[in-house]
Amino acid sequence: MSAENQPQPKAPKPPRRVTLSDIARMQADGQRIAMLTAYDYPTARIVDEAGVPLILVGDSLGMVMLGYEETVRVTMDEMLHHVKAVVRGTRRSLVIADMPFMSYGVNVEASLANAGRFISEGGAQAVKVEGGMRTARTIEAIVRAGIPVMGHIGLTPQAVHGLGGHRVQGKTVESARQLLADARAVQESGAFAVVLELVPAELSVAITERLKIPTIGIGAGPGCSGQVQVITDLLGLTYGFIPRHARKYENLAERISAAVGAYAVDVAAGDFPTAEHSSSMAPEVLDEVLGPGDADRAPVGAGMMSNEPIPLDRDL
Ligand code: KIV
Repeated sequence: MSAENQPQPKAPKPPRRVTLSDIARMQADGQRIAMLTAYDYPTARIVDEAGVPLILVGDSLGMVMLGYEETVRVTMDEMLHHVKAVVRGTRRSLVIADMPFMSYGVNVEASLANAGRFISEGGAQAVKVEGGMRTARTIEAIVRAGIPVMGHIGLTPQAVHGLGGHRVQGKTVESARQLLADARAVQESGAFAVVLELVPAELSVAITERLKIPTIGIGAGPGCSGQVQVITDLLGLTYGFIPRHARKYENLAERISAAVGAYAVDVAAGDFPTAEHSSSMAPEVLDEVLGPGDADRAPVGAGMMSNEPIPLDRDL
């Protein structure tokens, strides 16, 4: 067999983006689904390359990245800016854009237009909408327009004032019934999955068993189809309140602080940069630029010690 006829090794397939069918298959196979938030390009790359199937550009952005006190301050334009960066950093993960406060639910036209912007301008594959029965119509309209929607019930941060603060939802008969009804309404309106936030573990199991779509829990116990966390809570980069349900896998704030402190010390001591971090030029080129006089010649290794001013570009 000539070399030309030898079977050629196949080029590795380019990574394929996770689809809604993949998520449904994971649920059907009993595989727990991991979802994490990301808000910028480098973090999105890391999360994507680590194989996390779902990335949420959450409106938690407002608090953990932009320094607002509440998520309701986040605007469509701020969300879009970050969604675009996250999408650019991903090749595999399905990216879900969180619809910010008042960008949906006021009227169907505005909800559709805003959801559409996340897909066409932002490049996201889906959007997330808070609220159960109260937003079912909106979810339905967005899904009908061809945009996949993830629901979000339980503690819905955009409604935190009406819910009496960041507290577990569904602990009473009435509120547990309401949550079951909300979960069903989200499913009936066509959402592909639903976040359960701050829901008692037993109720999450009951909801998960009664739904066909996956439940993604946060502070909702281990019995959901998947879990979501705010990435800065995991990495030790959140300032202020860290919820009880978060597990800190790293202390990046401490590590970053040590690294930047070391850098500042090195600069002050003249230990950075060294030759390794610098480039050099042919001495004759510099001599030609500075002229033949010894006074003008740059003393080797003397930096800016010459008495003569070095001519500026505009003087040459
Ligand atoms: O904004 C966000 O990060 C969220 C998650 C907590 C689900 O909505």
